[in-house]
Amino acid sequence: MIRSPFFYVGDKYKLMSQLVELFPPNIKTYVGAFTGGGSDFLNVNAERYLANDIDKDLIRLHEEISSYADNGEALFTRVYEIIDTYNLSCSFKGQTTPQSYKEKYPKTYFAKFNKESYVRLRKGFNSDESRDYLKLYILLIYGFNRMLRFNRSGEFNLPVGNVDFNKNVVDALNNYLSFMKENEVSFSCNNYIDFINKQELGGDDFVYIDPPYLISASEYNKLWDNKQEVELYELLDELNRKGIKFGLSNMLEHKGMKNSILEKWSKKYKVHEIKSNYISFNNNSIKTTSREVYVTNYEQ
Ligand SMILES: C[S@@+](CC[C@H](N)C(=O)[O-])C[C@H]1O[C@@H](n2cnc3c(N)ncnc32)[C@H](O)[C@@H]1O
Repeated sequence: MIRSPFFYVGDKYKLMSQLVELFPPNIKTYVGAFTGGGSDFLNVNAERYLANDIDKDLIRLHEEISSYADNGEALFTRVYEIIDTYNLSCSFKGQTTPQSYKEKYPKTYFAKFNKESYVRLRKGFNSDESRDYLKLYILLIYGFNRMLRFNRSGEFNLPVGNVDFNKNVVDALNNYLSFMKENEVSFSCNNYIDFINKQELGGDDFVYIDPPYLISASEYNKLWDNKQEVELYELLDELNRKGIKFGLSNMLEHKGMKNSILEKWSKKYKVHEIKSNYISFNNNSIKTTSREVYVTNYEQ
Protein backbone atom coordinates (compact mmCIF):
# COMPACT_ATOMS: atom_id res chain seq x y z
CA MET A 1 0.00 0.00 0.00
CA ILE A 2 1.19 3.51 -0.83
CA ARG A 3 0.99 6.12 1.91
CA SER A 4 0.23 9.71 1.03
CA PRO A 5 3.16 12.11 1.67
CA PHE A 6 0.77 14.33 3.63
CA PHE A 7 0.35 11.81 6.50
CA TYR A 8 -3.05 13.37 6.83
CA VAL A 9 -5.42 13.07 9.79
CA GLY A 10 -8.08 10.47 9.02
CA ASP A 11 -5.75 8.94 6.42
CA LYS A 12 -7.23 5.69 5.13
CA TYR A 13 -3.76 4.19 4.61
CA LYS A 14 -4.09 1.48 7.25
CA LEU A 15 -7.52 0.40 6.01
CA MET A 16 -6.80 0.53 2.27
CA SER A 17 -5.76 -3.14 1.96
CA GLN A 18 -9.22 -4.16 3.19
CA LEU A 19 -11.07 -1.48 1.23
CA VAL A 20 -9.50 -2.08 -2.20
CA GLU A 21 -10.59 -5.72 -1.96
CA LEU A 22 -14.15 -4.43 -1.73
CA PHE A 23 -13.86 -1.77 -4.47
CA PRO A 24 -15.28 -2.63 -7.92
CA PRO A 25 -12.67 -4.60 -9.95
CA ASN A 26 -12.79 -2.43 -13.09
CA ILE A 27 -13.02 1.31 -12.65
CA LYS A 28 -13.07 3.84 -15.46
CA THR A 29 -13.19 7.10 -13.50
CA TYR A 30 -12.38 6.95 -9.81
CA VAL A 31 -14.18 9.79 -8.07
CA GLY A 32 -12.72 10.73 -4.69
CA ALA A 33 -15.11 13.30 -3.28
CA PHE A 34 -13.34 13.78 0.10
CA THR A 35 -9.80 13.03 -0.91
CA GLY A 36 -7.84 14.34 2.09
CA GLY A 37 -4.21 13.26 1.77
CA GLY A 38 -5.15 10.91 -1.06
CA SER A 39 -4.11 7.57 0.42
CA ASP A 40 -7.34 6.25 -1.11
CA PHE A 41 -6.78 6.97 -4.82
CA LEU A 42 -3.06 6.17 -4.61
CA ASN A 43 -3.98 2.53 -4.02
CA VAL A 44 -6.69 2.09 -6.62
CA ASN A 45 -6.47 0.95 -10.24
CA ALA A 46 -8.52 3.13 -12.55
CA GLU A 47 -8.28 4.72 -16.00
CA ARG A 48 -8.38 8.21 -14.54
CA TYR A 49 -8.82 9.86 -11.16
CA LEU A 50 -10.74 12.85 -9.85
CA ALA A 51 -9.62 14.02 -6.41
CA ASN A 52 -11.70 16.64 -4.63
CA ASP A 53 -11.58 18.23 -1.19
CA ILE A 54 -13.16 21.34 0.29
CA ASP A 55 -9.85 22.39 1.87
CA LYS A 56 -8.17 24.74 -0.61
CA ASP A 57 -4.76 24.60 1.07
CA LEU A 58 -4.74 20.83 0.93
CA ILE A 59 -5.59 20.89 -2.77
CA ARG A 60 -2.90 23.54 -3.37
CA LEU A 61 -0.43 21.20 -1.65
CA HIS A 62 -1.42 18.29 -3.90
CA GLU A 63 -1.01 20.54 -6.94
CA GLU A 64 2.34 21.84 -5.74
CA ILE A 65 3.88 18.43 -5.04
CA SER A 66 2.43 16.79 -8.13
CA SER A 67 3.81 19.61 -10.32
CA TYR A 68 7.21 17.93 -9.72
CA ALA A 69 6.01 14.54 -11.09
CA ASP A 70 8.52 14.71 -13.95
CA ASN A 71 11.31 16.13 -11.88
CA GLY A 72 11.57 14.65 -8.42
CA GLU A 73 15.15 15.82 -8.14
CA ALA A 74 14.08 19.47 -8.36
CA LEU A 75 11.53 18.86 -5.61
CA PHE A 76 14.10 17.36 -3.23
CA THR A 77 16.61 20.12 -4.03
CA ARG A 78 14.07 22.78 -3.06
CA VAL A 79 12.95 20.86 0.03
CA TYR A 80 16.55 20.55 1.28
CA GLU A 81 17.15 24.24 0.51
CA ILE A 82 14.28 25.16 2.83
CA ILE A 83 15.39 22.69 5.51
CA ASP A 84 18.96 24.02 5.40
CA THR A 85 18.00 27.70 5.21
CA TYR A 86 15.98 27.31 8.40
CA ASN A 87 18.47 24.94 10.04
CA LEU A 88 15.93 22.17 10.70
CA SER A 89 17.07 18.65 11.53
CA CYS A 90 16.81 16.12 8.70
CA SER A 91 17.13 12.46 9.72
CA PHE A 92 17.08 11.31 6.12
CA LYS A 93 20.30 13.20 5.36
CA GLY A 94 21.87 12.30 8.70
CA GLN A 95 21.53 15.91 9.92
CA THR A 96 20.30 14.85 13.28
CA THR A 97 19.96 16.74 16.56
CA PRO A 98 23.04 17.20 18.79
CA GLN A 99 23.66 14.42 21.33
CA SER A 100 23.10 16.90 24.17
CA TYR A 101 19.44 17.31 23.08
CA LYS A 102 18.93 13.55 22.97
CA GLU A 103 20.30 13.22 26.49
CA LYS A 104 18.41 16.17 27.91
CA TYR A 105 15.09 15.49 26.13
CA PRO A 106 15.09 11.75 25.38
CA LYS A 107 11.51 11.70 24.05
CA THR A 108 11.11 15.17 22.54
CA TYR A 109 14.51 16.11 21.12
CA PHE A 110 13.25 16.77 17.58
CA ALA A 111 10.59 19.18 18.87
CA LYS A 112 13.01 20.92 21.22
CA PHE A 113 15.72 21.26 18.56
CA ASN A 114 13.43 22.41 15.73
CA LYS A 115 11.11 24.69 17.67
CA GLU A 116 12.80 28.01 16.93
CA SER A 117 13.51 27.20 13.30
CA TYR A 118 9.93 26.03 12.84
CA VAL A 119 8.53 29.30 14.20
CA ARG A 120 10.81 31.27 11.84
CA LEU A 121 9.70 29.18 8.87
CA ARG A 122 6.06 29.62 9.87
CA LYS A 123 6.53 33.39 10.06
CA GLY A 124 8.26 33.31 6.69
CA PHE A 125 5.35 31.43 5.15
CA ASN A 126 2.66 33.60 6.74
CA SER A 127 4.25 36.93 5.85
CA ASP A 128 4.86 36.08 2.21
CA GLU A 129 1.87 37.17 0.14
CA SER A 130 2.65 34.88 -2.78
CA ARG A 131 2.55 31.85 -0.51
CA ASP A 132 5.20 29.22 -1.07
CA TYR A 133 3.33 25.93 -0.73
CA LEU A 134 6.52 23.92 -0.47
CA LYS A 135 7.19 25.82 2.75
CA LEU A 136 3.70 24.84 3.89
CA TYR A 137 4.54 21.23 3.07
CA ILE A 138 7.65 21.37 5.27
CA LEU A 139 5.57 22.99 8.05
CA LEU A 140 3.11 20.10 7.77
CA ILE A 141 5.86 17.47 7.90
CA TYR A 142 7.58 19.00 10.95
CA GLY A 143 4.28 20.04 12.59
CA PHE A 144 2.38 18.67 15.55
CA ASN A 145 0.24 15.70 14.45
CA ARG A 146 0.84 16.78 10.85
CA MET A 147 -2.27 18.89 10.51
CA LEU A 148 -3.19 21.87 8.37
CA ARG A 149 -4.44 24.44 10.85
CA PHE A 150 -5.01 28.16 10.27
CA ASN A 151 -6.28 30.94 12.54
CA ARG A 152 -9.11 33.28 11.65
CA SER A 153 -6.78 35.70 9.89
CA GLY A 154 -5.64 32.88 7.62
CA GLU A 155 -2.25 32.37 9.27
CA PHE A 156 -0.90 28.86 9.62
CA ASN A 157 -0.70 28.25 13.37
CA LEU A 158 0.31 24.65 14.03
CA PRO A 159 3.08 24.21 16.64
CA VAL A 160 6.21 22.15 16.01
CA GLY A 161 5.93 18.36 16.31
CA ASN A 162 8.38 15.72 17.43
CA VAL A 163 9.08 14.52 13.88
CA ASP A 164 11.30 15.50 10.98
CA PHE A 165 12.06 14.75 7.33
CA ASN A 166 12.90 11.04 7.42
CA LYS A 167 12.96 7.97 5.19
CA ASN A 168 9.19 7.44 5.47
CA VAL A 169 8.59 10.92 4.08
CA VAL A 170 11.08 10.43 1.24
CA ASP A 171 9.54 7.05 0.31
CA ALA A 172 6.02 8.49 0.41
CA LEU A 173 7.06 11.44 -1.79
CA ASN A 174 8.77 9.18 -4.33
CA ASN A 175 5.76 6.85 -4.53
CA TYR A 176 3.41 9.80 -4.91
CA LEU A 177 5.52 11.33 -7.70
CA SER A 178 5.68 8.00 -9.59
CA PHE A 179 1.91 7.64 -9.31
CA MET A 180 1.38 11.18 -10.61
CA LYS A 181 3.75 10.59 -13.49
CA GLU A 182 2.01 7.42 -14.59
CA ASN A 183 -1.61 8.40 -14.04
CA GLU A 184 -4.12 11.06 -15.00
CA VAL A 185 -5.24 12.79 -11.82
CA SER A 186 -7.35 15.98 -11.70
CA PHE A 187 -7.66 17.89 -8.46
CA SER A 188 -10.52 20.18 -7.52
CA CYS A 189 -11.62 22.17 -4.53
CA ASN A 190 -15.40 22.11 -4.08
CA ASN A 191 -18.12 21.12 -1.73
CA TYR A 192 -18.62 17.40 -2.52
CA ILE A 193 -22.25 17.96 -3.66
CA ASP A 194 -21.30 20.49 -6.35
CA PHE A 195 -18.32 18.37 -7.29
CA ILE A 196 -20.34 15.16 -7.78
CA ASN A 197 -23.24 16.90 -9.50
CA LYS A 198 -20.84 18.40 -12.05
CA GLN A 199 -19.56 15.01 -13.23
CA GLU A 200 -21.10 13.01 -16.01
CA LEU A 201 -20.82 9.57 -14.51
CA GLY A 202 -21.70 6.14 -15.86
CA GLY A 203 -21.92 2.54 -14.72
CA ASP A 204 -18.15 1.93 -15.00
CA ASP A 205 -17.28 4.82 -12.73
CA PHE A 206 -16.94 4.60 -8.99
CA VAL A 207 -17.55 7.24 -6.33
CA TYR A 208 -15.67 6.76 -3.05
CA ILE A 209 -16.95 8.73 -0.10
CA ASP A 210 -14.79 9.24 2.99
CA PRO A 211 -16.55 12.07 4.80
CA PRO A 212 -15.78 13.55 8.20
CA TYR A 213 -17.21 11.06 10.68
CA LEU A 214 -20.21 12.40 12.58
CA ILE A 215 -19.23 10.68 15.83
CA SER A 216 -15.46 11.17 15.97
CA ALA A 217 -13.51 14.35 16.65
CA SER A 218 -11.01 16.06 14.35
CA GLU A 219 -10.25 19.46 12.86
CA TYR A 220 -12.33 18.96 9.69
CA ASN A 221 -15.28 17.40 11.57
CA LYS A 222 -16.16 20.87 12.84
CA LEU A 223 -17.71 21.47 9.42
CA TRP A 224 -19.95 18.44 9.68
CA ASP A 225 -23.31 18.00 11.44
CA ASN A 226 -26.57 15.95 11.30
CA LYS A 227 -27.92 18.07 8.45
CA GLN A 228 -24.83 17.40 6.33
CA GLU A 229 -25.02 13.70 7.18
CA VAL A 230 -28.63 13.49 5.94
CA GLU A 231 -27.82 15.47 2.75
CA LEU A 232 -24.97 13.08 2.01
CA TYR A 233 -27.26 10.05 2.18
CA GLU A 234 -29.81 11.75 -0.07
CA LEU A 235 -27.10 12.32 -2.64
CA LEU A 236 -25.95 8.69 -2.40
CA ASP A 237 -29.55 7.48 -2.88
CA GLU A 238 -29.66 9.68 -5.99
CA LEU A 239 -26.45 8.09 -7.33
CA ASN A 240 -27.96 4.69 -6.65
CA ARG A 241 -31.10 5.58 -8.62
CA LYS A 242 -28.87 6.61 -11.53
CA GLY A 243 -27.01 3.28 -11.43
CA ILE A 244 -23.71 4.77 -10.30
CA LYS A 245 -21.60 2.70 -7.93
CA PHE A 246 -20.60 4.20 -4.62
CA GLY A 247 -18.70 3.08 -1.55
CA LEU A 248 -18.90 4.92 1.78
CA SER A 249 -16.51 4.67 4.72
CA ASN A 250 -17.89 5.60 8.09
CA MET A 251 -18.21 4.69 11.71
CA LEU A 252 -21.37 3.16 13.16
CA GLU A 253 -20.22 3.17 16.77
CA HIS A 254 -17.42 4.94 18.56
CA LYS A 255 -16.62 5.40 22.24
CA GLY A 256 -20.17 4.74 23.37
CA MET A 257 -21.74 6.88 20.62
CA LYS A 258 -23.86 5.55 17.80
CA ASN A 259 -24.52 7.07 14.38
CA SER A 260 -28.22 6.22 14.17
CA ILE A 261 -28.74 8.20 10.91
CA LEU A 262 -26.17 5.95 9.25
CA GLU A 263 -27.53 2.83 10.93
CA LYS A 264 -31.01 3.40 9.57
CA TRP A 265 -29.94 4.51 6.08
CA SER A 266 -27.38 1.73 5.58
CA LYS A 267 -30.03 -1.01 5.95
CA LYS A 268 -30.89 -0.36 2.28
CA TYR A 269 -27.37 -1.29 1.16
CA LYS A 270 -24.57 -3.76 1.80
CA VAL A 271 -22.61 -3.13 4.99
CA HIS A 272 -19.07 -4.55 5.32
CA GLU A 273 -17.38 -4.55 8.70
CA ILE A 274 -13.85 -3.10 8.54
CA LYS A 275 -11.19 -4.06 11.01
CA SER A 276 -9.74 -0.79 12.30
CA ASN A 277 -7.23 0.25 14.96
CA TYR A 278 -10.01 0.47 17.48
CA ILE A 279 -11.29 -3.03 16.94
CA SER A 280 -9.80 -6.29 17.95
CA PHE A 281 -11.51 -9.08 16.05
CA ASN A 282 -9.29 -11.81 17.44
CA ASN A 283 -9.05 -10.85 21.04
CA ASN A 284 -12.40 -10.88 22.79
CA SER A 285 -10.87 -9.54 25.96
CA ILE A 286 -10.36 -6.15 24.28
CA LYS A 287 -13.53 -4.14 24.55
CA THR A 288 -14.77 -3.21 21.09
CA THR A 289 -16.69 0.00 21.27
CA SER A 290 -15.95 1.13 17.69
CA ARG A 291 -17.41 -0.18 14.45
CA GLU A 292 -15.83 1.02 11.20
CA VAL A 293 -17.94 0.10 8.18
CA TYR A 294 -17.87 0.28 4.40
CA VAL A 295 -21.30 0.62 2.76
CA THR A 296 -21.81 -0.15 -0.94
CA ASN A 297 -24.66 -0.16 -3.43
CA TYR A 298 -23.03 -2.81 -5.64
CA GLU A 299 -22.30 -6.51 -5.39
CA GLN A 300 -18.68 -7.56 -5.57
C1 LIG B 1 -11.56 11.58 6.47
S1 LIG B 1 -10.80 12.83 5.51
C2 LIG B 1 -10.44 11.94 4.05
C3 LIG B 1 -9.23 11.05 4.18
C4 LIG B 1 -8.70 10.45 2.87
N1 LIG B 1 -9.67 9.59 2.24
C5 LIG B 1 -7.37 9.71 3.05
O1 LIG B 1 -7.33 8.48 3.01
O2 LIG B 1 -6.35 10.39 3.25
C6 LIG B 1 -12.17 13.86 5.15
C7 LIG B 1 -11.88 15.03 4.24
O3 LIG B 1 -13.13 15.63 3.87
C8 LIG B 1 -12.93 17.01 3.62
N2 LIG B 1 -14.25 17.67 3.67
C9 LIG B 1 -14.99 18.05 4.74
N3 LIG B 1 -16.17 18.57 4.36
C10 LIG B 1 -16.22 18.49 3.00
C11 LIG B 1 -17.19 18.86 2.01
N4 LIG B 1 -18.35 19.40 2.34
N5 LIG B 1 -16.88 18.62 0.71
C12 LIG B 1 -15.70 18.09 0.34
N6 LIG B 1 -14.73 17.72 1.24
C13 LIG B 1 -14.98 17.91 2.55
C14 LIG B 1 -11.96 17.44 4.70
O4 LIG B 1 -11.25 18.60 4.32
C15 LIG B 1 -11.06 16.18 4.83
O5 LIG B 1 -9.89 16.32 4.08
